[in-house]
Amino acid sequence: MASDNQTSELSRERAQQELAELRQLINHHNSLYHQYDAPEIPDADYDKLFDRLIAIEEQFPDLVTPDSPSQRVGDAPLESFRQVTHDTPMMSLSKVFNDQDLADFEARILKRLDSEEVPRYSCEPKVDGVAVSLLYEHGLLVRGATRGDGVTGEDITHNVKTIRNIPLRLNNSKKHPVPDRLEVRGEIVMTRSGFAAMNEKASSIEGGRTFVNPRNAAAGTLRQLDPRIAAERPLHFFCYSAHVSAGDGTDSNSDLSWPDSHSGSLELLGKWGLPLNPDRDVVTGYHACLDYANELLGKRDALDYEIDGAVIKVDNIRLQQELGSNARTPRWAMAYKFPAEEASTVVNDVEFQVGRTGTITPVARLEPVFVGGVTVSNATLHNMDEIARLGLRIGDRVILRRAGDVIPKIVKVMDGSLTTQSDAVPGAANTAERHEIIMPSNCPACDSPVEKDGEVLYRCTGGLVCPAQRKESLRHFCSRAAMDIEGLGEKLVDQLVEANMVHTVADVFTLSKEQLLTLERMGEKSADNLLNAIEKARSTTLPRLLYALGIREVGEATALALSSHFGSLEKLMQASEEALVQVEDVGPVMAAHIAHFFANGENDKVIADLRERGVTWPEHEAQTVSDELAGQTWVLTGTLETLTRDEAKARLQAMGAKVSGSVSKKTTVVVAGPGAGSKLDKATELGVKVIDEQELLKLLAE
Ligand code: IVH
Repeated sequence: MASDNQTSELSRERAQQELAELRQLINHHNSLYHQYDAPEIPDADYDKLFDRLIAIEEQFPDLVTPDSPSQRVGDAPLESFRQVTHDTPMMSLSKVFNDQDLADFEARILKRLDSEEVPRYSCEPKVDGVAVSLLYEHGLLVRGATRGDGVTGEDITHNVKTIRNIPLRLNNSKKHPVPDRLEVRGEIVMTRSGFAAMNEKASSIEGGRTFVNPRNAAAGTLRQLDPRIAAERPLHFFCYSAHVSAGDGTDSNSDLSWPDSHSGSLELLGKWGLPLNPDRDVVTGYHACLDYANELLGKRDALDYEIDGAVIKVDNIRLQQELGSNARTPRWAMAYKFPAEEASTVVNDVEFQVGRTGTITPVARLEPVFVGGVTVSNATLHNMDEIARLGLRIGDRVILRRAGDVIPKIVKVMDGSLTTQSDAVPGAANTAERHEIIMPSNCPACDSPVEKDGEVLYRCTGGLVCPAQRKESLRHFCSRAAMDIEGLGEKLVDQLVEANMVHTVADVFTLSKEQLLTLERMGEKSADNLLNAIEKARSTTLPRLLYALGIREVGEATALALSSHFGSLEKLMQASEEALVQVEDVGPVMAAHIAHFFANGENDKVIADLRERGVTWPEHEAQTVSDELAGQTWVLTGTLETLTRDEAKARLQAMGAKVSGSVSKKTTVVVAGPGAGSKLDKATELGVKVIDEQELLKLLAE
């Protein structure tokens, strides 16, 4: 094959041959990349193949085929959407919300079938995207449509064709012949990672449009008339059913050649090249369905696509037919819904919190609302820019999102027409009274003046005078990853600061039993335990101490990197900003914060006091010398129990490894802790070595 895009010398015959080769190669790499997430060639090489394809097709336009990979992006924008009628109506699913509902579902099935034999079920994630129908004629994708009202939808073929994991032509074979007319159904999603990246990019551009969630982003993208927009967005398809159809409303999945189970038909769709959901399973009885649903719920956060439940389907197609359907929903399937990750509520007030470095953060006090499985009554608003971006005022009705362990976030202010509905919600604020949110000019904790710091931040100028800053820095100092003083929690910190027993963090090491016993609810035993914990914390390590000091932007991984690089606190304290940026992951802004911290006399005094009060940290042995893991790529997934993620990452990096966020064929080892989800599955699928935290600790110790 020619290595550049010179096509002038090419004969028609040669072009035809090369096009066939190129299409096959591109489809092969496409499927490795999009279906298996295991690319074999760099993106740049893929682009070269693609460019070459386009160049030849431009020279020989009559050789362009409808299933050529070039056809994914080429169409001109449409004027408007065409309505299409689905071959058979696209049904909905009845929903169940708890275990009993699912038991009732099975009982109804058994009664209707007049059987005692517990059925087998196909269990699948209920993918939270946009339901679509794809029509294949003689194996060729000819139409893509939205579900619409179930009977008619909108023609979105131009956008569907841009989605890389949707085959433009199905794999036909003697063993598995593709039917003449096949209507495939499934869900189009935007990946979470792609969504986050897209929103981040949009918010950095003036006037850039951000989306509330991946589902809205997918729906908004499919509703575009110009397919070039969809071509650039991270859309992905999951197929969940198909119907062989005669095109006249009749459907012939009962043909002899069609599998007799739903799971079997999914396997067949997979053979034809349609992307299936890897997190599906087949089980017997509703108890096992519950186990499946709970396991799926456990890995919900780890999936790169959003789900809102599990779908439970009777697997046997004959039984499905026997059970039949109601007007809109089949009797043989059920959606087992998970707690919603979005809910609407009212912002009752906005308060301003002072952080350990004085940053003032607006926090919304909300009408309590159940979302993402917990009741939420506060949400951080980050900064004043965020408030302006949302157009938020006190009294507004908002959409709150809490996905997994992510902190709750206000994603949208609902518009006026929706806001009036809040009148019906008990406890909702009077929507007629809305107040602008204004940054106070004085610190709410110490009344010192508030200063603007950079583009969007505001800061209290009170320093150690400010009790809020003192409390926050003390909380951080005592936390597990810092000095790890067990028992010195939030309440006690408040008491110690309010009683003026602790002014700077170094004062923790002056506390006496007599002093502690004067505190409310402090008994002999608790005082002894606390003093023991403080005693234990006196011998610490340089990375812990550095992290505990609370230097702006210095997290655990940076503290470890700084310790490894400089070895001792003295050397670090003397380092110039130029020397600091030599440390991995330290940029100019962080270097300035570090230098600024040590240039401050008050901080010097705290360090001197710590030493004087018997706190010790040995010199840190640089760990960057080892290159034992050089060239290897590691992935951490699930919960680590002994090490923190940051720590594990830093230590692996110190041994020369690259630590990546996603599993591919290039991954050397995956460290999987409890709760590991799709990354672990992928590792198993690709045959990548998987170890647990114990094995990692052993390796690090060696
Ligand atoms: S089966 C008759 N399977 O859930 C069966 N639906 O109300 C109809 N959905 O918007 C659908 N994941 O697009 C099925 N694994 C799955 C699904 C799924 C998501 C959506 C579907 C529709 C809604 C059903």
